[in-house]
Amino acid sequence: MSDQRVAVVSGGSRGIGRAVAVALAARGCAVAVGYQGAAPAAARVVEEITASGGRAIPVRADVADEDDVAAMFTAAEDAFGGVDVVVNSAGRLSLSPIADLDLAELDALHRTNVRGAFVMSREAARRVRAGGALVNLSTSVVGLQFPGYGAYAASKGAVEAMTLVLARELRGRDVTVNAVAPGPTATEMFLDGKDEATIRRLAAQPPLERLGTPEDVAEVVSFLASPAGHWVNGQVVRVNGGII
Ligand SMILES: NC(=O)c1ccc[n+]([C@@H]2O[C@H](COP(=O)([O-])OP(=O)(O)OC[C@H]3O[C@@H](n4cnc5c(N)ncnc54)[C@H](OP(=O)(O)O)[C@@H]3O)[C@@H](O)[C@H]2O)c1
Repeated sequence: MSDQRVAVVSGGSRGIGRAVAVALAARGCAVAVGYQGAAPAAARVVEEITASGGRAIPVRADVADEDDVAAMFTAAEDAFGGVDVVVNSAGRLSLSPIADLDLAELDALHRTNVRGAFVMSREAARRVRAGGALVNLSTSVVGLQFPGYGAYAASKGAVEAMTLVLARELRGRDVTVNAVAPGPTATEMFLDGKDEATIRRLAAQPPLERLGTPEDVAEVVSFLASPAGHWVNGQVVRVNGGII
C-alpha cells in the first residue's frame, strides 16, 4: 500500500487549478485532475504530470452535481488508494452592475461557485483522511468591493463563510479547511473580455505592480495542502501582491 498523498483538484484543466495540480504533483501527490468540459486541456495536464514522473488521472465532474463529485472522489480512491487533499478551484465569473443583473446568470454563477463549493466540501468532509486538507478558492474582491462584481463577490463570500464553519465542524478529524482568495490573476477567467487599459489598471494596483500568475497562487495552495502548512486552519489567505 502506497503512502503517497492523493489530491482531487476541481477546475484542474485550466488556470489556477491547472497550476495547483502541477504544483501538488511536484510535491509528491497523485492527482485527480477535475474538469467540466475541457477534456483535451485536462489530458494535457495529466500528460505534463506523468511526463515529470508523477501520477495523475483526468476526471470529468460538474462540481454542482453530487453524483459526479462522488464519482470523482471514488475514481481517485480506486486509482490511488484514498483522498488526502481537496482543492476546489472550479469557478465561474460574470460581471454586471446589480441594477442590470440577469437573474438567470446569477443562478448559474451561484450553482457553480456556491452549490459547487458545498458539494465538493461535503464530499471532502466525508472522505478526506486524517492529516489531510481542503482548500476552497475565494477571491480578494470579497474585501475590495469593485463595482460590477456584486454577484461574484457574494458567491465567494458564501464560500468563505462555509469554509470557516467547516474548519470548526471537522474538530477531531485532523483535517484542515482554508480558503485562498487571489487578486487579479492572469488566467482566461480574468483576461477574457477585458481591454488592455483595464488589465493595465488592475495590474498596477498591488504594491508589487503586476498581475498574479497561476503559479503564485498554486504555491500558496500547495503549501496549505502539505504537512508543512497543517498548522494553518480555518483561515482566508489573501494572495494578491498586497492590494488593500
Ligand atoms: N483569475 C483570477 O483573477 C481569480 C481571482 C480570484 C479568484 N479566482 C478563483 O480561482 C478559481 C480558478 O479560477 P481561474 O482563473 O483558474 O478560472 P479559469 O481559468 O476560467 O478555469 C476555470 C476552471 O473551472 C472549471 N469549471 C467551471 N465550471 C465548472 C463546473 N460547474 N464544474 C467543474 N468544473 C468547472 C473549468 O473547467 P473546464 O476547463 O472543463 O471548462 C476550468 O478548469 C475560481 O474559483 C475563481 O473564482 C480567480
